[in-house]
Amino acid sequence: MNIAVAQSGGPTCAINASLVGVFKQGLLTEKIDAIFGSINGIEGMIYDKLLNLKSVIRTNEDMELLRQTPSTILGSCRYKLPDYEENPEIYEKILQTLQTHRIHIFIYIGGNDSMDTVVKLSGYLKAVGSDIKVIGVPKTIDNDLPVTDHTPGFGSAAKYVATTVQEIIRDSSVYSLPSVTIIEIMGRHSGWLTASTCMLRANGEEAPHLIYLPETDFSADRFMEDVRKEMAKHKAVVVAVSEGISLNAEDSGIAEFQSGAVDNFGHKYLSGVGKFLERLIADKIGCKVRSIELNVMQRCSSHICSKTDIDEAERIGRHALRTALDGETGKMMYFRRISSMPYAVTIEMTDASNVANLEKKFPKEWISPEKNQVTDAAIGYFLPLIQGEVDIYMKNGMPVHFHRPLQVR
Ligand code: F6P
Repeated sequence: MNIAVAQSGGPTCAINASLVGVFKQGLLTEKIDAIFGSINGIEGMIYDKLLNLKSVIRTNEDMELLRQTPSTILGSCRYKLPDYEENPEIYEKILQTLQTHRIHIFIYIGGNDSMDTVVKLSGYLKAVGSDIKVIGVPKTIDNDLPVTDHTPGFGSAAKYVATTVQEIIRDSSVYSLPSVTIIEIMGRHSGWLTASTCMLRANGEEAPHLIYLPETDFSADRFMEDVRKEMAKHKAVVVAVSEGISLNAEDSGIAEFQSGAVDNFGHKYLSGVGKFLERLIADKIGCKVRSIELNVMQRCSSHICSKTDIDEAERIGRHALRTALDGETGKMMYFRRISSMPYAVTIEMTDASNVANLEKKFPKEWISPEKNQVTDAAIGYFLPLIQGEVDIYMKNGMPVHFHRPLQVR
């Protein structure tokens, strides 16, 4: 039999490691012949754009390099599979691709939107009496998938964000002038990644002095009050803010700083909140103020990735294929944390419908009553996820990335 794997949604540092996990498990399984990669997620299955992975990942070195290469080697998509009744042809096209290439297992690596595809496609295949199995592998830097303790990709993003915020803290305090530095962090409508900056306290940092998450309401007036209070205590105030904080009508000036564009899933591009807050401080306090949007570096800075994250991402990819070979379909693999100290997780499965289109929010009990900080209790959750460094391949003083040849199939 043949199998196929695809990557979907926003990239991470660990999504290629999950693909390597599927690939390695495929190599070990005698009855598996070709391992196809679907180009641009589910779009490759619709338009029959497949890559024979054995022809591009040839050696152990290739696998090691791919494990440490950020982004998606197969490309990605933000494609919402319509309901079958709306567009049966799409499903028929996918089935045709699966049948043409004798694909018996399809592994989809993605986030909550991608699990919607796992639910719909596995449901359709069952309904037409096909035995083809579809299994989801979680991934997202947002860490917002229900059921799983955490998502592959998050640990590396959190390690980069904490490290970079620490460097910004050093830089921000050099002058005698009072200043405010605002760092805008991704995560959509969940604050996990922004909250993870609280880990810096484990290394004796006091900053970020203020942390704002989407899980609480945000008021510009309260923000200004908070900043003034912190300025009375510290010369250089550092603020971490989620891109998706919930602004109320009084703060509607944000629109000026955002593109207003939406993706296929109807998600708004959120960047701009840092600039909005920078303008507020410049107008109302007039001190030195800078906003920094960490932007895509949060999800592609593999030079500082977490070994725990990369290893787990590979492991969960392997498990996904084993689960499909056991005859399961319509499931997503997930991590169950057994203990934080010493850190241990098991890999289990849940119906993908328990995850599809749903968001897991940062726990309210880990947010300070003032809604501007994260409590120490969260530090123990985050720390195990960023442990360990990958021995990055370097050439001419720069990390080496795996490059996919351009040909398809
Ligand atoms: O879902 C992951 C994520 O990186 C979010 O944190 C961010 O808001 C979004 O993707 C950005 O999407 P795009 O890659 O389409 O700009």
